[in-house]
Amino acid sequence: MKKRLLVTGGAGFLGNHLLRRATQFISTGTLHHTPSTSLPDVKFHVCDLQNPEEIRILLGRVRPDVIIHTACSEQGKGIETIVPAAGLLAMQTAERGIRFIHLSTDQVFDGTSAPYTEESPTNPINPYGDAKAQAEELIRSLNPQATIVRTSLLYDLRTPDRQTTRLIETTKTGELYRLFVDELRCPIWVKNFADVLLEVATKDIPGILHLGGPETLNRWELGMGLLQHFGVTQTSNIQKGTIEESGLVRPKNLTMDSSLAERLLQTPRFSLEEARKMTVTSES
Ligand SMILES: NC(=O)c1ccc[n+]([C@@H]2O[C@H](COP(=O)([O-])OP(=O)(O)OC[C@H]3O[C@@H](n4cnc5c(N)ncnc54)[C@H](OP(=O)(O)O)[C@@H]3O)[C@@H](O)[C@H]2O)c1
Repeated sequence: MKKRLLVTGGAGFLGNHLLRRATQFISTGTLHHTPSTSLPDVKFHVCDLQNPEEIRILLGRVRPDVIIHTACSEQGKGIETIVPAAGLLAMQTAERGIRFIHLSTDQVFDGTSAPYTEESPTNPINPYGDAKAQAEELIRSLNPQATIVRTSLLYDLRTPDRQTTRLIETTKTGELYRLFVDELRCPIWVKNFADVLLEVATKDIPGILHLGGPETLNRWELGMGLLQHFGVTQTSNIQKGTIEESGLVRPKNLTMDSSLAERLLQTPRFSLEEARKMTVTSES
């Protein structure tokens, strides 16, 4: 019998990809400010995840076996909601014996001592990383069975993600756009990541799990790869830069060690080049 999956943030970037691909589950998504959306065979419920009563009603209606909590990112007022929503969901899933998978970020680290394993001490240096680190602590205390998945930049190859859209727009506006060569991440194709997460949803993996892409790229390499993929010619206003020169406070090297996931999971993770080839092949 198919298990029931609830994806919070069903209209969000990752949440929507998960719901599109979760055919092995009976799937439900949550919406917050998005008035409505539709996907074949997926139900949606409006729920404010900061409201304990709304969560209680939602869980009573959906009776999920597993929840993948993608809602509450760094977008909009999202940062303020990260800790309370994580705490409420951790508590109510522990009470009801529901498997709980929480999405966290590589930005819980400061970027000075990569590569980072699940055991590496956290030391966030921005408000988003700080909120995610607090949420992780709270979840671990309230629901030790929960899986906390830390990932890196998610990109799409069909429709440009938010940052790639901005990058593409600057090729038309001429605005100076610097891509940092000293900011290193393990980006992962959102479709690939959704498949890996759906495998996590079928397993019992308590604690923290690192799930970045299989390669480390700097922002320049990622930006150039995505511009090329979308057939956009780089313009002279898009330049290499460094975090150092910019004066911004950002973690530099967030290379993740995802070898634990490699051992526990079967779903392969693809590099940007491999993902691009797969997308081109499936389109032709
Ligand atoms: N995108 C990345 O590159 C990346 C990298 C590392 C980690 N992550 C993590 O992965 C997760 C998914 O990221 P994403 O980029 O897919 O996020 P996203 O597109 O910004 O979606 C976040 C969703 O959260 C929902 N939400 C916000 N406040 C809520 C509330 N109070 N109650 C219920 N829902 C609420 C929003 O719903 P409505 O739209 O309906 O209002 C929105 O759809 C996040 O936890 C993020 O921190 C993302």
